[in-house]
Amino acid sequence: MPAQKNLKNLVAACLAALFVAPCLSFAALDSSKLVGPGKCTDCHKSEASAWQEMKHYKTFDDLHRRPAAKEIAAKLEIINIKTESTCMQCHYTVNDTGRAVAGVSCESCHGAAADWITVHNEKGRRADAVAQGFISPSNIYQLAVNCYSCHTVPNEKLVNVGGHQAGSAIELVSWVQGEVRHHFKSGTTNADATPERKRMLYLVGRVVDLEFSLRGVANATEKATYAVSMARRAKAARAEIQKILDVLPRDEVKAVAAAADGVALKLNNKEPIMAAVQTISDLGRKISDTYKGEELAALDALIPTVVQGTPYGAAP
Ligand code: HEC
Ligand code: HEC
Ligand code: HEC
Ligand code: HEC
Repeated sequence: MPAQKNLKNLVAACLAALFVAPCLSFAALDSSKLVGPGKCTDCHKSEASAWQEMKHYKTFDDLHRRPAAKEIAAKLEIINIKTESTCMQCHYTVNDTGRAVAGVSCESCHGAAADWITVHNEKGRRADAVAQGFISPSNIYQLAVNCYSCHTVPNEKLVNVGGHQAGSAIELVSWVQGEVRHHFKSGTTNADATPERKRMLYLVGRVVDLEFSLRGVANATEKATYAVSMARRAKAARAEIQKILDVLPRDEVKAVAAAADGVALKLNNKEPIMAAVQTISDLGRKISDTYKGEELAALDALIPTVVQGTPYGAAP
């Protein structure tokens, strides 16, 4: 099955790249460690119900039927979207035999779970779970990287030849708090995040947007839709950082802006751009680990209040 091999090669290349440079495009799911969403929904019933209303869930049944999808596939000479294609990286959860078992599912966002599923819910063992690949909601940087690795659509051929959209207008607060919201900890209602949490999501999300937009520019090889869109995206992300800097002139935010300003957004400029990406990535991690939402009230005026889609359980 050649497609399966391609997927594995891609994963291998991506993992290899992790040791020399930040992975160029994709936070790949380790399919050998996948348990499948059915294992999570046994215990997380409310989260499961919320997930089943997401486009992430529905894409499993409807992507291959959509005319727009068929058009993209035809341009790329893909015969079967669901069983042997690049579409699988982002639209599906793929197991280690190369089969799509769900749409974008729990483990697409929280990490392949074989090694952490039994420890993540034990008191005091979150760090152990994280060491085993658990993407915890407490690690906002990692959560965000995961969203952006799909939502910037870092695939030049898919965009230039297939005509796929070049990424989403994703902003972390509004895109987590809408149809993706599943926050039942404090009871049975699907609660909105606290203002402190939103500030952290907002700030880290904007930094990661800049990081991934620059990655997109670094990987562009031809002057066409993909390169142009990524450069535009990076400029917009830099402008958003400026707005943040104007109200929150802290050292790390300044350094993020400075790193982006140091590089020209042009083709064949991979090395300097990736150096900036690395700097911004380190800063994003530091901000996520050390900043406190309580200290970031200055950001409130910037945080969007309109969310993407309807939260599960909300009055229509
Ligand atoms: C045996 C029951 C059980 C299973 C199976 C299970 N969980 Fe949990 N999970 C829990 C409990 C209990 C908690 C802690 C209370 C809570 O947050 O609801 C928890 C917490 C979490 C958290 C929040 C942790 C944090 O750091 O705040 C996430 C995310 C999560 N689980 C995801 C998953 C995913 C994804 C799966 C499937 C791969 C899964 N869980 C399978 C019981 C389970
Ligand atoms: C790198 C990740 C990635 C890959 C690979 C990918 N997609 Fe997508 N696709 C996305 C994301 C993210 C969205 C959601 C965009 C949004 O709503 O902002 C999307 C949306 C779509 C849409 C909906 C567009 C619309 O306006 O309704 C179609 C159709 C689609 N993809 C088809 C495909 C096909 C066919 C393939 C394989 C040839 C594919 N995608 C591969 C990430 C990807
Ligand atoms: C599109 C990505 C995505 C998918 C799919 C997803 N989650 Fe989450 N999950 C998140 C994010 C992001 C958060 C943190 C939200 C926030 O900060 O408000 C989270 C938080 C959680 C929490 C902690 C909730 C709390 O009350 O604090 C649990 C438990 C959880 N997810 C379980 C699951 C389970 C089980 C599934 C599958 C049925 C699932 N998630 C699917 C992204 C996702
Ligand atoms: C594995 C890839 C992947 C990951 C990881 C991922 N998404 Fe998505 N997301 C998609 C795809 C693909 C679609 C479009 C599905 C479709 O329309 O068929 C989508 C759609 C969405 C939509 C609906 C957009 C619309 O047009 O209405 C929202 C909101 C969203 N994602 C938010 C998030 C957030 C927030 C995260 C991180 C917590 C995240 N996603 C992580 C692939 C991903």
